[in-house]
Amino acid sequence: MENKIEDEKISIEDIKPDKSLRILTGDRPTGKLHIGHYFGSLKSRVELQDKFETFIEVADVQALTDNFNNPDKVKQNVSQIVMDYLSVGMDPNKLTIFLQSQIPEIAELTIFYSNLVTIARLQRNPTVKTEIAQKKELFGESVTYGFLGYPVSQAADITAFDASYVPVGEDQLPLIEQCREIVRKFNSIYGETLREPVAVMSNTGRIKGLDGNEKMGKSLGNALYLSDDLQTITEKVMSALTDPARIKKDDPGNPNICMVYYYHKLFSDEDTCKNVCEECKAGKRGCVACKKQLIENINKTLAPIREKRHYFEERPQEVMDILMSGTSHAREIAKETMQKVKEAMKLNY
Ligand code: TRP
Ligand code: SF4
Repeated sequence: MENKIEDEKISIEDIKPDKSLRILTGDRPTGKLHIGHYFGSLKSRVELQDKFETFIEVADVQALTDNFNNPDKVKQNVSQIVMDYLSVGMDPNKLTIFLQSQIPEIAELTIFYSNLVTIARLQRNPTVKTEIAQKKELFGESVTYGFLGYPVSQAADITAFDASYVPVGEDQLPLIEQCREIVRKFNSIYGETLREPVAVMSNTGRIKGLDGNEKMGKSLGNALYLSDDLQTITEKVMSALTDPARIKKDDPGNPNICMVYYYHKLFSDEDTCKNVCEECKAGKRGCVACKKQLIENINKTLAPIREKRHYFEERPQEVMDILMSGTSHAREIAKETMQKVKEAMKLNY
């Protein structure tokens, strides 16, 4: 199997493991991670760390673009997100976790790249457009320069590490496309210097919320967090959306419109799912029992994660040490890129 570098997006199974190639991805530290993140990205990162040289960015500078008025929130969530990473099995001996704000080369690259992208092009970016529409309350009539420009800064994140692949969700594709455009423009003006990254799609796609909403999120109150304890999981699953037409236990149900069944498919084995489906349709399964079985299976996945998280919650210094040593390793690589970029741009004094 050949690596298809020329494609602009591929799926994870298409790439041949290669420790000499870099992967970069990241998250804005604005809240604890939930099982949507787990199935959508975290789980695959644990696999990728054995296959590629993997970098995970805690994007605190990007988080400030729409939280500039709330620096405490961003700061608090930096260690929370690192704990989430470590608790799911991302291993600092195998991958590098780093903090964006402590890599000044990223900010420098952002300024250089800002000459290579027009305002109109940024305004047309579908991801930015959607986000601006959602953030009317913060931005009012006119969006900030920083927020409009965050795709440029994200292009700096990616190229600073010479990343070949960027594992992201569907919503991030326009940002990777914009990064590729910046790279092409840079190379055409200053000479072949930067690598065009390829977006790698996670195969799961988006996980729906417990209420059936297409999106799982904190503001929607429909998420299961990696840090939720058994009691919280129980309460949330007990109030999850089921087939509303089912009143009595022997009413035939439709599992396909039930979130409990949807989650069984994520957390329970194939036989269990088959039973749930058949018994529900035949009116031979009570919703309460069905939910209890789901809670047990969710807990089988989340209990070890929670335990690991507790370990790190009690050792905040260890968490920060991991982040800072990852950051100094990352910075060495960003500096190498910066040297090449400055040479190409005739800024090497
Ligand atoms: N924009 C991404 C998100 O909101 C986070 C991010 C920042 C990122 N820098 C990145 C993702 C670089 C991939 C590559 O989820
Ligand atoms: Fe949903 Fe299970 Fe009730 Fe069927 S039995 S409606 S799958 S909770």
